[in-house]
Amino acid sequence: METLREIVVLVHLVGFAVLFGAWVVEAFGKRGVSRVMNWGLLIAAIAGLALAAPWGTDALNYPKIGTKLVILVVIGALIGIGSARQRKSETKTVPAAIFWLIGLLTLANAAIAVLWK
Ligand code: HEM
Repeated sequence: METLREIVVLVHLVGFAVLFGAWVVEAFGKRGVSRVMNWGLLIAAIAGLALAAPWGTDALNYPKIGTKLVILVVIGALIGIGSARQRKSETKTVPAAIFWLIGLLTLANAAIAVLWK
């Protein structure tokens, strides 16, 4: 059970890497949103929700998990709004505030995961 949970943590980290990696690529590129971000978010969300189930291995910190879930939903909304705006924009980019918030909130969720005990 412990090993299986660790594999799900690994998948969760892959989701984070895909989302944040895609965002970093955009930060050095045209600063838009990309489909890869959505895939990363989806992977992190599914694995994160699986980790939030009572596995019986560790006590779960529900306020922390709830906070991460709220932030994930906000990131999803920002990517959604961003891609709609991007489609309409001539430069095919998103408003700067939306772009930087996506990266900041992704990093915030990773920080919460690591620092909130
Ligand atoms: C963009 C969204 C997210 C990011 C960037 C993220 C990032 C991370 C990272 C880096 C870890 C590893 C921390 C460590 O091992 O010390 C982690 C662990 C975890 N995450 Fe997330 N996460 C996200 C969303 C979520 C969501 C939505 C949930 C649940 C609803 C969730 C639940 C968990 C749980 C329960 C762990 C603990 C695994 C463990 O240490 O055993 N995460 N997350």
